[in-house]
Amino acid sequence: MRIGSVPIPGVTVLAPLAGITNLPFRLLVKEQGCGLVCSEMISANGLHHGSPKTVRLMESVPEEKPLSVQIFGADPDIMAEAARMVAASGADILDINFGCSVRKVVKTGAGAALMRRPEESERMLRAVRAAIDIPLTIKIRSGWDASGEGALTIARLAEECGVDAVAVHPRTAAQGFGGSADWTLIRRVKEAVSIPVIGNGDIETPEDALRMLETTGCDRVMVGRAAIGYPWIFSRIEAAVAGRPVPEVTPAMRIAAMARYLDDSIRAIGEDHACRMMRSRLGWFAKGLPHAGRFRASLHHLSSRAEALERIEGYGALLSAS
Ligand SMILES: Cc1cc2nc3c(=O)[nH]c(=O)nc-3n(C[C@H](O)[C@H](O)[C@H](O)COP(=O)(O)O)c2cc1C
Repeated sequence: MRIGSVPIPGVTVLAPLAGITNLPFRLLVKEQGCGLVCSEMISANGLHHGSPKTVRLMESVPEEKPLSVQIFGADPDIMAEAARMVAASGADILDINFGCSVRKVVKTGAGAALMRRPEESERMLRAVRAAIDIPLTIKIRSGWDASGEGALTIARLAEECGVDAVAVHPRTAAQGFGGSADWTLIRRVKEAVSIPVIGNGDIETPEDALRMLETTGCDRVMVGRAAIGYPWIFSRIEAAVAGRPVPEVTPAMRIAAMARYLDDSIRAIGEDHACRMMRSRLGWFAKGLPHAGRFRASLHHLSSRAEALERIEGYGALLSAS
């Protein structure tokens, strides 16, 4: 499958996760064969104002390509300007957020608010499309009510405006992340448009991914929460879909991933900041393993790489002994 001119290998796509899918996280996921990785959502206004912190969110390396960078905003001129900046940064695909239901975002007319304003959305999409040559995608929710009509309207409109693919997370804005995703809507969107459709929502296992592909006909599956601390979800899904044996994930692999994530994070943001982040993040990789609580508690005051490695290795030794 291609999104516009960009070939997308495999069947899996990493969902954008604010505060999580930074470069070190994406590298772990890419190593597990994910076909397309996505940045965290980036404020178009932040890019417009040249905020260095915002601009840094676009940083990338060749090993993770293809990369999709997601922006959020509503103003057509600002979105077009931000889109140009994303394209100039070397991103392969620009994605626009039509799904964020956080109040702070929705009250500016951005994110999920776009789903109930088709006319404004069309103006914005046309301005962005005219501003860039790289492929353009959108990520939508069901809309404001459970009928799914909002999603169908926006998906059709997007196709008319030259959008190259649409990712569907079939929960309403009001649902947040509660309840379950209504996969039947992914199928309805797939039937309504001829651009690729990426299905998203509640994939936790390779079996879930197979079921979504089969029951909805979607072109790719997008995984978010199940990838947090568990990048192997991608190699496991890719193997299952290709009919290969699904690889096991050993404690030693988890320990190695923690060390890699630590070092990549230090390289990206410096030792001090990375170690503060690792206090909560290394624990992600221990989910479901023995002594995970004890390991998490040992991370509370991390302040150096040496200390973090000692905790990681100590946990590895504890796992081997148990
Ligand atoms: C912590 C967190 C952050 C998220 N950030 C974004 C984001 O920046 N942009 C976006 O389009 N969706 C975002 N989402 C939604 C996810 O991309 C995805 O649609 C949702 O989690 C459902 O997929 P899942 O069941 O595989 O997690 C976020 C979700 C979570 C839990």
